[in-house]
Amino acid sequence: MPKILTVVGARPQFVKAAALSRALKENAIEEILVHTGQHFDENMAEIFFRQMDIPEPKYNFGLNSLSHGAMTGRMLEEIEKVLLIEKPSAVVVFGDTNSTLAGALAASKLNIPVVHVEAGLRSFNMKMPEEINRILTDRISSYLFCPTEVAIKNLKAESFENFGINIIYSGDIMYDVALYYSRVSGEKSTIINDSGLNKKQFILTTLHRQENTDDLTRLNAIISALNILSGEYQIVLPIHPRTRKILESNHIKLNFGPIDPVGYFDMVELLKHCKMVITDSGGVQKEAFFFGKHCLVARDETEWTELVDLNYNFMVGADTKKIIETVEKVSKSNAKFDVKPYGDGNAAEKIALYLKNL
Ligand code: UD1
Ligand code: UDP
Repeated sequence: MPKILTVVGARPQFVKAAALSRALKENAIEEILVHTGQHFDENMAEIFFRQMDIPEPKYNFGLNSLSHGAMTGRMLEEIEKVLLIEKPSAVVVFGDTNSTLAGALAASKLNIPVVHVEAGLRSFNMKMPEEINRILTDRISSYLFCPTEVAIKNLKAESFENFGINIIYSGDIMYDVALYYSRVSGEKSTIINDSGLNKKQFILTTLHRQENTDDLTRLNAIISALNILSGEYQIVLPIHPRTRKILESNHIKLNFGPIDPVGYFDMVELLKHCKMVITDSGGVQKEAFFFGKHCLVARDETEWTELVDLNYNFMVGADTKKIIETVEKVSKSNAKFDVKPYGDGNAAEKIALYLKNL
């Protein structure tokens, strides 16, 4: 049986790992979990390990709050040490964070096969740290598990078929996660009642992308839209620590009270019962769709273009007027969310079956 070493570090990876860890366990595949420590607050990290099916990390490097180079470099060094001790059959990395790139780079330099889950995505914006991370990770991987047909097309356009890499359509592992945990989230979470939220009336919003938080013009424009909207709607903003710090240090005022980041069960309940979503998150854009909600994407481009093409999601950038107008338009929609661009909810099982035969 192969021995799989999984590298996680940031919130989206904990969520994705939950599905793969369960599938590995069901297939009796040994998994060693390595946590870089990139995310570390209780509600950004620990809560996911407590609530979801993720094994305890065997290693946690506690590497966070550093510049991109320092963070990635130090992770690389620590992951290499672990790989030399554990000698896994393959290393699994998810998505596009600094932890993803560090894991992929450490393994590939030791000629250990890299398995990239959520491969082939592109925003075509090389200023995004995530775009750099995902392109480099794809290129040094041995297995690229793609969540969408668009992702496969992107890889073909970059001649990945010539690089001797296995390119496999798996569907989106986040869809597996959403389906699985939405069955129990209603029993586990009390956030809707506890927060006095009116079902289908509130707007769920998340905001953390560097391109928004580190550009005060963009940040002010988005916050201004949320402040205006808070006159008509309840706004629920589980606030990322990066965003909280920047709002506070720049004295940018919210007309509504943000809440701490929430665990996945609460997040699912908020997604199920909100009126719509406004976000710059990659994962939340799709989760809105999984739960039948329109989503305004507060970015200038997205990796999940199919949802925009299908008129479920709307690109609103950091444009106050566009955000408000789009909320008005969307609030009248009675669209049916009945297409399936993200597979059948069995991505993790498909990936595990490949890993079994390594
Ligand atoms: C990272 C990922 C981003 C992903 C996001 C998910 C990179 C380059 N970026 O962005 O792709 O969408 O995670 O949430 O890897 N912080 C805390 N407590 C925490 C976590 C972070 O205070 O638990 C603070 C850090 O100290 C730092 C800031 O938030 O000052 C940013 O953290 P960092 O991990 O560098 O990037 P994210 O914005 O979280
Ligand atoms: N998420 C969560 N609680 C929150 C905000 C987000 O559980 O307060 C979940 C979200 O639903 C998604 C995951 O965290 O499944 C990753 O989202 P994030 O926005 O952190 O990262 P991205 O997808 O943009 O990389």
